[in-house]
Amino acid sequence: MNWNQTHALVTGGTRGIGRALVDFLLEKGAAVTATGRTDSSVDKARLDCPSVNWLVFDQSDPNQRAELVTRMQGKGVNLLIHNAGVQQLRDFTQEGEKLDFPTQLETAINFIGPVELSRLMLPHMRHQADARIVFVTSGLALAPKRSSPVYCANKAGLRSFAKSLRAQLRHAQWHIEVTEVLPPLVDTDMTRGRGRGKISAQAAARQIVRGIAAGKPEIYVGASALLRVISRISPALAEAIMIDR
Ligand SMILES: NC(=O)c1ccc[n+]([C@@H]2O[C@H](COP(=O)([O-])OP(=O)(O)OC[C@H]3O[C@@H](n4cnc5c(N)ncnc54)[C@H](OP(=O)(O)O)[C@@H]3O)[C@@H](O)[C@H]2O)c1
Repeated sequence: MNWNQTHALVTGGTRGIGRALVDFLLEKGAAVTATGRTDSSVDKARLDCPSVNWLVFDQSDPNQRAELVTRMQGKGVNLLIHNAGVQQLRDFTQEGEKLDFPTQLETAINFIGPVELSRLMLPHMRHQADARIVFVTSGLALAPKRSSPVYCANKAGLRSFAKSLRAQLRHAQWHIEVTEVLPPLVDTDMTRGRGRGKISAQAAARQIVRGIAAGKPEIYVGASALLRVISRISPALAEAIMIDR
């Protein structure tokens, strides 16, 4: 990856892993456009980090996806990092649960958003040098946990999509690489107040950027590497380890 020739578009760059990714990409010399969902988070990020082209973008909204792609037209984006995501803790045995944040919305953010944004960006990226689409899924794409069933299904679905898309692009001889990133538990707003043994967003982002630079198709961050080994030897054991996390 020639970082000086890279224009990265990072979704969900205002906080957590995305924000750390933005910092590392800038440090490497890439030009960066990054998004957040709310005006306030984008305004704050712009103050903290003025060299980034910050945009407000809700990836669950088809109109905003189309608008973002229009804005990126001719801007030479060759690294698209689908990082934005939400995790809802849900219990389907509770009547009327999560009416405020339905399955459709969680899935639109975590799955439909990155899939459809990829579809719209592909024609713009296909003639760029060193083009790469990165999907941030999760270790939970390998084995789900009980407390966030829709999130786990979204991430497993995105993992499957990334594999098919990689194969389609190769078959069509479009020179766009696909990378999947599987983080473990990372210390961000998403995991605030729960879980143990978290790694920092900076540690996760450092491994992700190193993996992208090395051209890896899959980046198993931290403990996800061990989970991968276990899930290959015994899928049942991996599921037993993860289900009550
Ligand atoms: N944290 C973990 O342990 C962990 C583990 C495995 C995988 N991951 C994955 O890593 C990615 C980043 O997670 P994180 O923990 O860094 O999250 P985070 O700290 O909660 O930050 C989420 C980011 O996504 C943006 N966002 C939220 N809803 C959005 C929407 N509807 N449209 C567009 N952007 C939206 C947020 O923007 P605002 O600031 O404007 O709200 C923010 O920039 C996610 O895909 C997550 O599933 C995280």
